[in-house]
Amino acid sequence: MGVPAQSAVQHTVQPPGANPADPSFWQLPHSARLEAFAALRALERPGYFVERAATWRRPERGFYALVRHADVVQASRLSQVFVSAPGVTTPEPAGWVRFLFGDSMVNMDAPHHTQLRRVVSRAFTPRLLAAAEEDIRRVASCVVDDMIEQRPGEFVASVASRMPFEVICNLMGIPEHYRPEIAGRVDHASENVGVDRPLRARLRVPGRGLRALARMQMMMASLARERRSRPTDDLISALVRADVDGQALDVRQLGAFFSLLMVAGVETTRNAITHALTLLTDNPDQRALLEADFDRYADGAVDEVVRHSTPIIQFRRTVLTEHSLGGRRFLPGDKVVLYYASANRDESVFTDPDVFDITRNPNPHLGYGGGGPHFCLGAHLARQEIKALFRELLSRPRALRAVGPPDLAHSNFDNRVRALPFAFEPPVS
Ligand code: HEM
Repeated sequence: MGVPAQSAVQHTVQPPGANPADPSFWQLPHSARLEAFAALRALERPGYFVERAATWRRPERGFYALVRHADVVQASRLSQVFVSAPGVTTPEPAGWVRFLFGDSMVNMDAPHHTQLRRVVSRAFTPRLLAAAEEDIRRVASCVVDDMIEQRPGEFVASVASRMPFEVICNLMGIPEHYRPEIAGRVDHASENVGVDRPLRARLRVPGRGLRALARMQMMMASLARERRSRPTDDLISALVRADVDGQALDVRQLGAFFSLLMVAGVETTRNAITHALTLLTDNPDQRALLEADFDRYADGAVDEVVRHSTPIIQFRRTVLTEHSLGGRRFLPGDKVVLYYASANRDESVFTDPDVFDITRNPNPHLGYGGGGPHFCLGAHLARQEIKALFRELLSRPRALRAVGPPDLAHSNFDNRVRALPFAFEPPVS
């Protein structure tokens, strides 16, 4: 039987409370949101949600929610139909911000995306990442040395953020004296993505976010100049020497890539690390298994942390050509939102999806995306970092644990933890 034709937007009767277009949905407890996603997965076809009602000047704006594993995979892979321009975040980035600061590769499509990705992937080949392994181990060891010296307190700032930040700065070749400022700027640049805030705060904070972007752009420009005249073996040198359409990356492209790495690479990994501590504290049987044979269970544990916590909740796409998927026919211009957080709890793919099980095999989670040309460039690096850090955390201090609930940001974009109180006993010397 054919898919019902769509002449205009197709509205659906929604299960009560399951409206991800409503900012208050993202204030619900995590368990209530998961229940709502389960109700949406049970719908016959992807539901439609109104983001902004129509006025006499503007048409209605809304999106279709792709919540099933199979639908998210298909839309991710059909990149000629479900395109990333003009933007994958909600709301989409303003045109003038993209013009001023350069477009991020997540928002691009072929052929520009393909060319840029080819260049930047050179820094993420298994061979280069194997070479980075030693550095990752060293960073993990230093972070845990400092943690032991500083005593228990707050896990995000003292442990989880430091690990990915230092690793990416080392990869890029960011000099030490730039790092404290960059760390502060990154927090400002991304603190409000996907968070609904009161109008006063909205007016005040974008200025701070844009200032942070502009300042990072300036730092990149000065580093790019330095590396062009004196290349080293770091990522910035590789990028300014690289050829995209016969040219090296310009300052705007370099700045945009750097900002993306800082948000995509640091925040995601930091949130995964923080959720890992809560999950291991709440599931002592799983932790005992991991501690008993770290080498055997670590890869599975890291994948299960990423599935269960899903650090990136959603990305969106715009429909370019008419296409049917999941029982709906989509028309050019339609917006679809890919809910990785829902796909990762799809009961038709994962047995007992709410259970944290480090032995889950297979574990085809979509935490790094559903495949296709935008699949996370740093997935392997993230796995290496989380594994190296937990190898140290579980073997050196004793009884490391979360001692309170995570302070979660109410974001529709990432499963961000603002703070997590933790404790441990020092190692026996
Ligand atoms: C647990 C950690 C991480 C998670 C959960 C994660 C998740 C994701 C997701 C969901 C996407 C979008 C995929 C798609 O649209 O199909 C993505 C893209 C990306 N990620 Fe990650 N990521 C992580 C770590 C990292 C790290 C460590 C780096 C780099 C150092 C990184 C760099 C990127 C880049 C550059 C993209 C854009 C790729 C493109 O548009 O071609 N990510 N990531």
